[in-house]
Amino acid sequence: MKNIVGSIVEKENFFGREKEINRAWELLENGNSLILAAPRRVGKSSFAKKMKDKAEIEGWKGYYIDLEKSKTETDFIKRFLTVLKGEKWFEKFKVDNFKVSVPYVSFDISKNEDICQKIEQALPYSEDTLIVIDELTIFLDNLHEDNKKNDLDNVEFVLNWLRGLRQVSGNKIRWIFCSSIGIENFASAHNLSYTLNDVTSFAIDELKGNEPTLFIKELAESKKLTFQDDVIQYLLNKLGWKLPYFIQLLFKEIVDFTESEKEISIDTIDKAYAHTISKNSIHFNTWFERLNEYKEDKQYALILLKELSRMKAGKSRNSLQSLIVEKVLDVDKAEEILNRILFLLDKEGYIMESAGKYTFRSPFLRDFWYNRFVL
Ligand SMILES: Nc1ncnc2c1ncn2[C@@H]1O[C@H](COP(=O)(O)OP(=O)(O)OP(=O)(O)O)[C@@H](O)[C@H]1O
Ligand SMILES: [Mg+2]
Repeated sequence: MKNIVGSIVEKENFFGREKEINRAWELLENGNSLILAAPRRVGKSSFAKKMKDKAEIEGWKGYYIDLEKSKTETDFIKRFLTVLKGEKWFEKFKVDNFKVSVPYVSFDISKNEDICQKIEQALPYSEDTLIVIDELTIFLDNLHEDNKKNDLDNVEFVLNWLRGLRQVSGNKIRWIFCSSIGIENFASAHNLSYTLNDVTSFAIDELKGNEPTLFIKELAESKKLTFQDDVIQYLLNKLGWKLPYFIQLLFKEIVDFTESEKEISIDTIDKAYAHTISKNSIHFNTWFERLNEYKEDKQYALILLKELSRMKAGKSRNSLQSLIVEKVLDVDKAEEILNRILFLLDKEGYIMESAGKYTFRSPFLRDFWYNRFVL
């Protein structure tokens, strides 16, 4: 097993999650499509690809379409067709003026239903098939932002088109939609929940039970290092939220800090941890870049996170609200802003609430945040 820090893991580098794989497979076999909802970096793309591999092992057809970089309808269709072309059933239609491999004149998806209809007609509904669509919400968000008229025609068209594909009778195509920024919230905010009401939400989170320990042991073995059980426990306690990504990140630093010794000490872990959370660390970029999408709420989210990074024990809703009141000078408005932000920060894995106190979900991220934004 290689320590892959940051990129999607595949094949022998994918670790654990057997329970979730079996449960997701059961749902897919029973005809469900899934929304794989989890904050950034939890492992959605890796998991979805694993399900695609599993589907292929079981004799299904599997496709993976990543929309993260898709900004326009043209990109969307292009990616769709690029992945599907080469299939026999796909040859059934030819799209006029459409060349998948070269840029061509862009078009408005809702006005060019032709291509969509052709894809709709050509899909292999009678064959067991899994199509993974990664980062659907990012694409829909881009589409919405790009729309000069600022209406939802195109977003609604895409969601309805996908819904139509799922609802063909006798259909054996199942879908997994990965979404780091709550597609259900997005749909509900735009009154489009009806377009997803046939899809089952499937959650993945940190590694559970003895998985984190076994993951560390496997990584250690690949580098010929040893960790005593109490040292592994120490490392896991420091991480708190046991995402494979955080384990990989810290493990990489541990390896870098290890010279001749083969047995890892608590001291090495402390050094590696301190280095990873240093203010210039790039590993947590995704977390603060994401806040740009909060637009005018970003400033308040930063105030709250800064405060929570100082307070390991957490803060009550009231005391967080008073920080916002100081800025907006209006209690009702502050409450509205706070509700909106706490909901998002919680959903997106920054914070959690327990016994009336809000804290960072991950001590690792909290300690970095403190170094970056407080010190
Ligand atoms: N089951 C796993 N085994 C080993 N590593 C994993 C596993 N799941 C995730 N990872 C690691 O976690 C990191 C994030 O994984 P991945 O890209 O799949 O997550 P994601 O939820 O799709 O992230 P993003 O929201 O940024 O797209 C990567 O470094 C990947 O190697
Ligand atoms: Mg991903």
